[in-house]
Amino acid sequence: MPVTTQKLIQWKQAGRSIVALTAWDYAIARILDEAGVDLILVGDSLAMVALGHATTLPVTIDEMLHHTAAVRRGTKEAFVVADLPFLSYQESPAQAIHSAGRFLKEAGAQAVKLEGGYPAMVETVSQLVLAGIPVMGHVGLTPQSVNRLGYKQQGRTRDDAQRILQEAIALDDAGAFAIVLEHIPTDLAARITAKLSIPTIGIGAGPHCNGQVLVTADVLGLSAQKPPFAKSYANLHGIITQAVRDFSGEVRQHQFPE
Ligand code: KIV
Repeated sequence: MPVTTQKLIQWKQAGRSIVALTAWDYAIARILDEAGVDLILVGDSLAMVALGHATTLPVTIDEMLHHTAAVRRGTKEAFVVADLPFLSYQESPAQAIHSAGRFLKEAGAQAVKLEGGYPAMVETVSQLVLAGIPVMGHVGLTPQSVNRLGYKQQGRTRDDAQRILQEAIALDDAGAFAIVLEHIPTDLAARITAKLSIPTIGIGAGPHCNGQVLVTADVLGLSAQKPPFAKSYANLHGIITQAVRDFSGEVRQHQFPE
């Protein structure tokens, strides 16, 4: 049965952990979906892991649409969320509705994710929700703000922790169906998770969130660099290198084709 926003919220109430991973193409999406992942995020981290950029900032709406449509074609059961790229939603609620609408209409995304919980962004979220577009929030470390915040853990001081908690509550009140908590202290993530009616999906936020998300390239051992909180469950870089060397050897030795 396909995953829905209602199910994700019920799973929080029932204490069932939500499994989320990123995908950037059809092949990866098909594997994640068949393996039973609940939520597939077409994260703008694909700018770095699939397109070779240094940050998430350069990826365009058209590139994200192209990748999202491929992921959607590979997905039957998981809930597909697309990241709105940098400056495709920050200007105004109208800009956000226009951009988010393209992801639902043109690429088949079921929801969008956007970064930030400051008052203007909360207003944007409530207008997107009113327009019928499910929204996933994202607070704590927000990579689109790398030039202002860097990649360091957020919410370490009392004031910063309080601000992030208030942002998460405001996004919940605005109608977001879930929130990513990135690289914040475990106790802060636990407080936010207890306070919200919607699920929290942690990445570098400790074990008390309602679900966990990682960048699939990190999980599979494909990334050139991974953040300190990520974990690799396979070394595909090594496996692919060996397969390519085996093929090259057989071609050069005239062993393939037989
Ligand atoms: O772009 C992305 O992959 C993300 C995750 C890190 C949550 O936003």
